[in-house]
Amino acid sequence: TLLHPLLAALPKAEHHMHLEGALSPSLLFTLAARNSITLPEPAIDAAFASPASLLDRYTRFSSLDDFLHYYFIGMKCLIKEQDFEQLAWEYFLKAKSDGVVHAEVFFDPQAHTGRGITYETVVNGFTTACQRAERELELSTKLILCFLRHLPVEESRMTYAQARMDLETGRLAGLGLDSSENGFPPGAWKEIYGTAKNKGIRRTAHAGEEGPVEYIREALSELDVERIDHGIRLAEDTSLMREVAQKKILVTMCPLSNVRLRCVKDVKELPIRTFLDSGVMFSINSDDPAYFGGYILDNYCAVQEAFNLTAREWEGIAKAAVECSWCNSSRKTHLL
Ligand code: ADE
Ligand code: ZN
Repeated sequence: TLLHPLLAALPKAEHHMHLEGALSPSLLFTLAARNSITLPEPAIDAAFASPASLLDRYTRFSSLDDFLHYYFIGMKCLIKEQDFEQLAWEYFLKAKSDGVVHAEVFFDPQAHTGRGITYETVVNGFTTACQRAERELELSTKLILCFLRHLPVEESRMTYAQARMDLETGRLAGLGLDSSENGFPPGAWKEIYGTAKNKGIRRTAHAGEEGPVEYIREALSELDVERIDHGIRLAEDTSLMREVAQKKILVTMCPLSNVRLRCVKDVKELPIRTFLDSGVMFSINSDDPAYFGGYILDNYCAVQEAFNLTAREWEGIAKAAVECSWCNSSRKTHLL
């Protein structure tokens, strides 16, 4: 696109990417070999024949759950603190080259503790990479712990207890909710989110990605979230959309993800124009860049191809993304 140099040069803040979603097929195979992890037999799933065939399979996800099947297999190759560090570091390097100045990244501790990796191994590895990114890349970073909504809420409660100190001291920046959406309404996490709110802990949740707009309403009313992740179904409810705009709730959109997971057929179907016209604040993000065919700049470019926004509109989007970040105001002033 003609605006590509401008989009590349814009100082960007990313708010919606899952570190485990930065696991490329090549790193997946490398870690599997290093850690002696047996991948599914190609006779059972031909996608695992090679990194190239796995990458090709990622172009044919049929749904969120079809993607999650591969996502949870892939992360079984992450064993040592050093693996988590390497995964996050490789993402930060790529983010830096895409013009990211501030990255708030999700991770799924339950996907690791559930297979015998300790909570500390995960958080120490990711934290080391964050500190290195701050030091060597001048990239500010925040870690956001996500609960897996397909598991019993009781397991989220146990994870919250493990993470409580890190959340209260700011080693972790906040809480999110992800994984399978349909059939798992967010209200079940009300008690945990209420406790977190009372402690001043920041809160977001995936809602209205594959699931209905009611889940967005429920995340706002029951969990009192400060952000909505995806939120593409929001435009279906005008009064809720007005509330989101008025409360300056940030919607963290992931265009290439929505196409790959068949939530929309084309980026053109996303309510970007509607959000701009309604004053809904949103940011553009990569979600799981190694799985969805692009990092943040590719997502910016895909939106530009579809909507042909003006340079001024892009500057507004990038500026709002910095303003809605969970860093302190002096850092924001420095980034703007
Ligand atoms: N975990 C990683 N990516 C996700 C997505 N797009 N939706 C829900 N959970 C996820
Ligand atoms: Zn996501």
